[in-house]
Amino acid sequence: MSRLRRVVHFPRQEEAAPEALRGATVVVIDILRATSTITSGLAAGAREVRCFGSVSAARRARRAAPGRPGLLCGERNGRKVPGFDLGNSPGDFTAASCGGRTLLLTTTNGTRALGRTLQARQVIIGCFLNLTAVAAYLSAGHGDVALLCSGTEGEVSADDVAFAGALACELARDGLALADSAEEAVQVWRTARRSLSKFLARSRGGVPLVKIGLERDILFCARRDRFDIVPRVLGHTNGFLIARG
Ligand code: MLT
Repeated sequence: MSRLRRVVHFPRQEEAAPEALRGATVVVIDILRATSTITSGLAAGAREVRCFGSVSAARRARRAAPGRPGLLCGERNGRKVPGFDLGNSPGDFTAASCGGRTLLLTTTNGTRALGRTLQARQVIIGCFLNLTAVAAYLSAGHGDVALLCSGTEGEVSADDVAFAGALACELARDGLALADSAEEAVQVWRTARRSLSKFLARSRGGVPLVKIGLERDILFCARRDRFDIVPRVLGHTNGFLIARG
């Protein structure tokens, strides 16, 4: 008899050595806001997203493709980087602002987490906006699952863990076996779901956004199943290339 597929959870990226993710399908999670932004951009019709660890790498990528340059997007300290086309507010990624374009994205934590996934079997992008689509994709196959929370500057951020728990619940319902680490995330989700946007606003990722007046982003990121897409990492030679699955 084949063994049950397993779901493990890493509450912050620093806990996931690249070898620990070897062979798994990794779901990268940064609810506030990187993975919500990537999903929104692709759902709005962006051609692809290329993620970079630094502002200078994103700028270099733009200079290297002068024909129809990509849009520079992302944040530092939550705010749009000076000179960039867009920040990291998922609601700003619309057909008008980014349809057909390549997005060159850099954020503080989320894009960095991708760097841990080099030995994964495959990497997908998850958030509340595409929860059911991601669960259905994983339930259909693709081996063991690792839920990789980005966290906030080295600390666990409850917004990410709540989503990991919501996804783990769906996967358990579909017959996957949860490791203790994933069961812990489910407990967080059980608290969070009573009032998700309020829970997100109080999280380590949420508090700084409230401080700079971006509560609307939190409300946006708390919406479930707005999009029916599963963004996937397709390569990592010029940034991490992500497109609709
Ligand atoms: C990140 O990747 O660090 C976040 O998405 C931060 C933010 O959006 O403010």
